[in-house]
Amino acid sequence: MRHFLSTLDWSRAELQALLDDARALKRHPHTADLAGKGIALVFFNPSLRTRTSFELGAHQLGMKAIVLEPGKGAWPIEFDDEVVMDGEPEEHIREVAQVLSRYVDAIAVRAFPKFVDWSVDRQDKVIQAFARFATVPVINMETITHPCQELALMMALQQRVGPTDGKKFVLTWTYHPKPLNTAVANSALVIAAKFGFDVTLLCPTKAYVLDERYMQAAQGYCAAQGRALSVSHDIDSAYKGADVVYAKSWGALPYFGNWAPEKPIRDAHKHFIVDERKMDLTPHAVFSHCLPVRRGVKVTDGVLDSPRSIHIEEAENRLHVQKALMRSLLR
Ligand code: CP
Repeated sequence: MRHFLSTLDWSRAELQALLDDARALKRHPHTADLAGKGIALVFFNPSLRTRTSFELGAHQLGMKAIVLEPGKGAWPIEFDDEVVMDGEPEEHIREVAQVLSRYVDAIAVRAFPKFVDWSVDRQDKVIQAFARFATVPVINMETITHPCQELALMMALQQRVGPTDGKKFVLTWTYHPKPLNTAVANSALVIAAKFGFDVTLLCPTKAYVLDERYMQAAQGYCAAQGRALSVSHDIDSAYKGADVVYAKSWGALPYFGNWAPEKPIRDAHKHFIVDERKMDLTPHAVFSHCLPVRRGVKVTDGVLDSPRSIHIEEAENRLHVQKALMRSLLR
């Protein structure tokens, strides 16, 4: 039995096999491969794309998907060990994971960080606990990384950019009024490096550099393939020569749990918005974003509505790659 918690645990060849199967499923969406099987989709946070694409994808494979929202229609869950459960949670992850494993063939989990203490959040305790106690595969629907989004992005890039080796991928931080999760940024960095891009992380200051776990992984993938990972705070030089511009906002890790001093720094960098001038610094780069996206804040309408933007293809690909993933884990 294998989980899909992070692409750090999967080789490039294994991920490519999923992408190849996703392309086949895009051409022939309906199969009965997993008829009669079930998947629990456990959401601790909201979703539009993830919920829709997993539910529909399961249906198209002949499966039944059951959506559970702990604390909202399903019992709140305790994750700590050896606690006296006299608070809000009604049951423990030990029972939840084991019972769900008796009903369904896979458990998918969305559990964002709590945004209080990064040293705690980076342990990814919720999905790790599901993986520890479940006896069926566990799939990450976004925690501190977003590996399904990585696959969807890479499928879109292979469609639109072609071979990825040696091309330039720019992950640019953008402004957002709130500090956001680093999950997609971690993921974009890692998958671009794993698939042979030269990767540039463009962010306002060194406080916005991502967790060392993902920086080191990306550095390792780049070095092993003769590529480079660089960090830049200079917009124009970062965009120059880019084949891909990927935008995401995130909160600076040193300010986790103490966001007030971070806000003026974020507010001073609204000019990181992806716009036509910056895109024109590139030869012919494509643009994408994981969605949801705030127009006029992270990216201009002009870029988002141009033929350069592949964000809708990336979102569509969530359906295909997740079906390939379920086929791989459950067949
Ligand atoms: N990109 C993504 O995961 O979208 P949702 O949050 O709507 O699921």
